[in-house]
Amino acid sequence: MTTSEDQYTAEPFVPEGASLSALRKAAAGCRGCPLHRDATQTVFGEGKTTARVMLVGEQPGDQEDRQGKPFVGPAGKLLDRALAEAGIDPGEAYVTNAVKHFKFTQAEPKKRRIHKSPNLREMTACGPWLAAELAIVEPELIVVLGATAGKALLGSSFKVTEVRGTVLEREIHGRQERLVPTVHPSSVLRADDRETAYEGLVHDLETAARALT
Ligand code: URA
Ligand code: SF4
Repeated sequence: MTTSEDQYTAEPFVPEGASLSALRKAAAGCRGCPLHRDATQTVFGEGKTTARVMLVGEQPGDQEDRQGKPFVGPAGKLLDRALAEAGIDPGEAYVTNAVKHFKFTQAEPKKRRIHKSPNLREMTACGPWLAAELAIVEPELIVVLGATAGKALLGSSFKVTEVRGTVLEREIHGRQERLVPTVHPSSVLRADDRETAYEGLVHDLETAARALT
C-alpha cells in the first residue's frame, strides 16, 4: 500500500487464482505505488493465455498510456517489425511491461510528456502483476526487452550488454524459466546507427525464435 514510502506494493490488489481478464480488471484499480496518480490508466499485458512467448518491456509510453495497450507506439511498431523478421508472429506473443503505469515529467500542462525510468521501488511494487501474468500464461520463453525488464526479472545486477542474445535459465517466482534478453526497442530508435542497432535486435530475436522450435 502507499502508507509508508518503502512499502509500495501491488500485492493487496492482486486477486488470487484469478483469470487473466479478472487480473486485468483488478489491475485497473491498482494503487500499489504513486505512479497511478499522474498516468491515464493501467496498461496491462495483452495476448493469449496460450502464448508460447512472453515479451516484457519497461513501462507504457505516451501512446500506450492513452490507448491502454502495451507497445502500440513507435517502439511497438519497430518491435513488431523486428519480431516478424526474426520469425516470431507478434500476434502470437503475450506482450507486457515490468511496470504498468506510465512515469513521466512534464514542464507545463499541455507540454509533451517526457518518459522517466521507473525506480527500483516502483519496479518491485509492480512485480506481483508480472508474477501473476507469468503464472497464468506459463510461457516457454521470456524475451527480456532492456535493462528495466532485466532488473525486474533477473535482479539489480542485470546488464543487457553481458547477456543479450543468449538463452538463460533461471528460477523466477518459483518457476523455472528460459529467457532471452535483448535491448529495448526504444534504444534502437535513439541509436546513432539505427540500422546496426536494429540488426542487433533482430539477431537476438532470432535466438529467441530458435529457442522456441
Ligand atoms: N516501451 C515499453 O517498454 N513498453 C511499452 O509498452 C511501450 C514502450
Ligand atoms: Fe500498481 Fe504497478 Fe501502477 Fe504502481 S505502477 S500503481 S504497482 S499497477
